Amino acid sequence: MKFIFITDTHYGGPDDQGYRQQPRYNCHAEELLDKLSDFIRQEDVSFVVHGGDLADWGNRKNMRLAGQLMKRLPCRVYLSLGNHDLTEDDSVAAWLEETPQLFPDGAIDYTIIENGLRIDVLCSNWGPRPAFWNIKEPQLAWFTDEQKSRLFDGPQDMPRIIVSHSQPCGLPPAQTGLDHDLHAPHEPFQQYVRETCESLKPLAWLGGHNHMTIRRRLNETQLVTAPAFSEAPFEAKLFEFSDGKLSMKTIVFGGSVGFQWRYDFDKTHVQGRACDRVFNS
Ligand SMILES: [Fe+2]
Repeated sequence: MKFIFITDTHYGGPDDQGYRQQPRYNCHAEELLDKLSDFIRQEDVSFVVHGGDLADWGNRKNMRLAGQLMKRLPCRVYLSLGNHDLTEDDSVAAWLEETPQLFPDGAIDYTIIENGLRIDVLCSNWGPRPAFWNIKEPQLAWFTDEQKSRLFDGPQDMPRIIVSHSQPCGLPPAQTGLDHDLHAPHEPFQQYVRETCESLKPLAWLGGHNHMTIRRRLNETQLVTAPAFSEAPFEAKLFEFSDGKLSMKTIVFGGSVGFQWRYDFDKTHVQGRACDRVFNS
């Protein structure tokens, strides 16, 4: 069973403003999604998980645009809402109304069970109010007790993956040349990730938010983030789950698009080293 993980598309936002790690090309969003669609058909991918910041701002106009764009993909798409998706008082209700197909069971926290793999999607909170992002507040990822307890509902004896918009960890110094982890979440969140991985032993924890590649191992768990799908060179992660094992490859679409794009070679750590882009477990 194969699935794709993409993240941080920021649909509805400008290509030349806002947090980006590489040049963004949402002006070519349809072509990029059509290339992804070709790949999905060719590889018989079952579904796509979008790691959040699907929209650049959580209003209905962007939600309708993002929903239409996701409908180009020839398979189910699931969304783990990101901070940019949650900027309005009614963002959660509006997402559920405008794009119910992205949320199984009509909820922003949910569990998918597919071919013996359990995928728990938890909506990251950022400030004092859950499921809402005030752009002026620091981004301090957390989950409510109710969200945390969801992980202990349902079947516990199957391989699982946890998905959050928040990155589970920072980029390691060996990837960046810095002397510290880059773009790490605050310590309480990292501690929660460590404790959860220790107790539940997920095969992987997938995140986004940083627009950068991470692949770090924490005991039995692969900690993974993907760069923004809408930023050059337009990457997706292909996961394959087979015989209880999970593997991952990084797929690059920049070589097959019909438009010119730029790449910032001063920031190759965004794509990571070869070892950050693939794993077999
Ligand atoms: Fe984000």
